[in-house]
Amino acid sequence: MKGIILAGGSGTRLAPLTAVVSKQLLPVYNKPMVHFPLATLMLAGTREILIISTPRDIGGFKILLGDGRRLGLKISYAVQSSPRGIAEALIIGEKFIGGGNCWLILGDNIFFGHGLSQELEAAKLENAGATVFGYSVSDPQRYGVLAFDDKGAPKSIEEKPAKPLSNYAVTGLYLYDSRASEFARKLKPSARGELEITSLNNTYLSKGELKARKLGRGYAWLDTGTYDSLLEAANFIQAIEKRQGLQVACVEEIAYRMGFISRRQFAGLSREMAATPQGPYLKSVLEEQ
Ligand code: G1P
Repeated sequence: MKGIILAGGSGTRLAPLTAVVSKQLLPVYNKPMVHFPLATLMLAGTREILIISTPRDIGGFKILLGDGRRLGLKISYAVQSSPRGIAEALIIGEKFIGGGNCWLILGDNIFFGHGLSQELEAAKLENAGATVFGYSVSDPQRYGVLAFDDKGAPKSIEEKPAKPLSNYAVTGLYLYDSRASEFARKLKPSARGELEITSLNNTYLSKGELKARKLGRGYAWLDTGTYDSLLEAANFIQAIEKRQGLQVACVEEIAYRMGFISRRQFAGLSREMAATPQGPYLKSVLEEQ
């Protein structure tokens, strides 16, 4: 299944950090932010990826990730000329999607947790329409918010409600069937002038074809939208990596473990990065029994 990473927006809430650099290229501890959603798509088994960014920033992503071949991926690029909403990504990406099912992930969303790969695999198998992932947060009014009926099925999604009906935020990872682009084209811009992803999800909900999967408390879904949350995300990744001696969102390691590249190719990457701080880690993965 293909995947789209939307790394647009002007990042105004992080100014002046974003005056020159795309928000999604800012560091989260030891990696550019976009490596985290890229790692999530890779863990879902996705190898064909479209990155959408602004006219100003798209070049930076191309320099960072190229055509993706070194990671066994096929990465292509498209531009969102102005911030017209998350759902527009499915219109921009229509040709790329090519009539199949597709993941959409926001370039600033960080997911971490044991069994994520299996969870995404199960979501693919059980999807019948669209799937969203709910995560309990202390400040749901900042997000799309899910409410559930007695049977645990999604009942409503509201975008940034003043009075949230639950603590479940809709995370920035979505799975759509082949109709997503068509439905997105029928949406009307919201009051803030955007094609809201919540409106698209509500299209599926009104047809009874939206699944909402809860990511339990064993997962971390981290925000990077403010100075504090960006620093907290970096501290979280640092704490995990230092304690475990294992890296989070090491895309070279994931490419190898997922079988996207051979052992020989991974050895090549390990040599290529030998002089960087990541070098010894890649070598240890290569040499592990
Ligand atoms: C967007 C979506 C919202 C979702 C959030 C996840 O919010 O509109 O429904 O919960 O991403 O990151 P925005 O980034 O536009 O504030």
